[in-house]
Amino acid sequence: MTKIIAISGKGGVGKTTITGLLLKFLAEEYSDNHDILVIDGDPASNIPEIIGLKTDLEKTVSKLTVNLKQKIDKGDIPPGFDKGLALESDIQSIIYEEDDYDILVLGRGEGKGCYCFINNLLKNIIDPLEESYDLIIMDMPAGLEHFSRRTEKDVDDLIIVTDMSRMGFNVVERIVEIAKEVHLDFNNYWIIGNRFTEEAKQYLDEKIAELKEKFGINIVLAGYVPSDNEITKANLLSSPIVEIPDDNPAYKKAKEIAEKIFKF
Ligand SMILES: Nc1ncnc2c1ncn2[C@@H]1O[C@H](COP(=O)(O)OP(=O)(O)OP(=O)(O)O)[C@@H](O)[C@H]1O
Ligand SMILES: [Mg+2]
Repeated sequence: MTKIIAISGKGGVGKTTITGLLLKFLAEEYSDNHDILVIDGDPASNIPEIIGLKTDLEKTVSKLTVNLKQKIDKGDIPPGFDKGLALESDIQSIIYEEDDYDILVLGRGEGKGCYCFINNLLKNIIDPLEESYDLIIMDMPAGLEHFSRRTEKDVDDLIIVTDMSRMGFNVVERIVEIAKEVHLDFNNYWIIGNRFTEEAKQYLDEKIAELKEKFGINIVLAGYVPSDNEITKANLLSSPIVEIPDDNPAYKKAKEIAEKIFKF
């Protein structure tokens, strides 16, 4: 069974950085025996940088859909033809194959309404890909819209990252609320606190207990990742997060978190 995990949370809380740390773990401890696909679901497409993938982003789902649309407009594909099926057959050609995992970049919507179009097709994209992978991990954009479109309908576990701000906490709650409203039935909600001080941790612990009670869901604190100078430096120098040393304190914490989330 393919496990699908999505990473969400308020803008700028560290979703992509934490995805990078989790990928470092997966590359080291998991990828020998498992096929992994990373989906960069954010139109800002930061995953390539985090993992050190040099690309001019020619291969994105967005570009593929634009080409598809052009083909339809030119009459190369009959109007009644299933767009999902057409995409499905081309998707393999835009997957970046790295040593430890494959990458699929959604990219930026080109033209009005396009991102919505991609989001709607995401369901068609994930279904056939499930056959080829044991684990699919998706870095999602900030914001909540994609939840109401049920983009995450196939997702098993949802990771929500928050920083120690009230807005971060509010977004955690809104995500849970919307997920419940639109019946996204995640097996687990994992909360990761990024860059917390010791004193602030109790507030997140309390928030999680409150949400568990209020929504009756399986919501668990996966752990805390400290603010870290090497991450700051990697970001400034555009060097890949996956290359920070094994004894880096933030990575060590992320590794403990990963061991819980990807238990094996
Ligand atoms: N633990 C950390 N220590 C130091 N810097 C961090 C840490 N986590 C995140 N950052 C920095 O915070 C900034 C935002 O992080 P990141 O891009 O991962 O957030 P995001 O949630 O993916 O943002 P967006 O919503 O724009 O996609 C980056 O400059 C990143 O280097
Ligand atoms: Mg991001």
